[in-house]
Amino acid sequence: MKVFITGITGFAGSYLAEHCLSKGAKVFGIKRWRSQTENLDHIVNKINLLEGDIRDVTSITEVLGEIRPDYIFHLAAQSFVPTSWKAPAETLTTNIIGELNIFETVRELGLDTSIQIAGSSEEYGIVYEDETPITEDNPLRPLSPYGVSKVAQDLLGYQYHQSYGMKIVRTRAFNHEGPKRGEVFVSSNFAKQIAEIEKGLNDPVIKVGNLEAIRDFTDVRDVVRAYWLALEKGEPGDVYNIASGKGIKIKEMLDILLSLTDIKIKVEQDPARMRPSDVPVLIGDSSKFREKTGWQPEISFEKTLKDTLDYWRERV
Ligand code: GDD
Repeated sequence: MKVFITGITGFAGSYLAEHCLSKGAKVFGIKRWRSQTENLDHIVNKINLLEGDIRDVTSITEVLGEIRPDYIFHLAAQSFVPTSWKAPAETLTTNIIGELNIFETVRELGLDTSIQIAGSSEEYGIVYEDETPITEDNPLRPLSPYGVSKVAQDLLGYQYHQSYGMKIVRTRAFNHEGPKRGEVFVSSNFAKQIAEIEKGLNDPVIKVGNLEAIRDFTDVRDVVRAYWLALEKGEPGDVYNIASGKGIKIKEMLDILLSLTDIKIKVEQDPARMRPSDVPVLIGDSSKFREKTGWQPEISFEKTLKDTLDYWRERV
């Protein structure tokens, strides 16, 4: 079993690589020439890391022609919502054209590969009160260029399945957190700030953005198990939510993190952290996926946050 992971050097990608190895798969991935690979340090001798960029079809053709994988997990993306307002063209190009390059290459090479597309709860955008928990049939009303790019990725996956019968399974993961999470994302950012305060590197003041948003959090280690199951047991052409089903206010998340430190920390809003529009509520219904695959999250949110804080305590 040969598995190809785009975005393998990233947060979810590195955990997914580890999970695929535990399944006995031979793991391949690409990295851009300047990418950091520290997330993979512990398994670098067990995986095959090639140079490549999803935005460059030439490099994808070469790599996929050589590997001819059974599974592709497509995780590579510009994944930070605020950056998508600052660099919308780059976000749309990387996310949409990057995926197109993979589909076209698989088609041209005539591969019978199963492909997972990492969509997002951001595709749902505005969700009305009577629409939660959100099912896969909910209208998509994205509120950021990032959300739009994920809708396009999702629908492109649908269309390539319909047009060419390609074995594409789309997942819409809600927020996933854990150690190694990029420091710009909320749980990781708050945890890093707390660790810095504990070390005396900063005053006891934590900078925050919108604390009123509600998100549905799952541990990244549970999410990568779901990605594997999506290809093992999911229906090609179909789309699945991956979510815990519980909504947590960002303020509650911050309170849990603050309860894990002995230091008294003041909370201060930083206007630069506010977004032009922030999705107010995302709570997912993942019963379709659970029934199809038997998946359910196993790691508590408290453990996810504690592990993330400990991760930063070792690093700052
Ligand atoms: N990043 C950040 N920093 N977010 C903050 C902050 C802060 O200081 N303060 C409050 N927030 C709020 C954001 O406004 C948002 O409502 C929520 O915390 C989560 O922000 P992020 O962690 O940046 O994640 P996201 O929800 O925008 O997007 C993540 O989840 C999506 C799945 O729903 C990303 O991982 C996306 O790539 C992913 O698709």
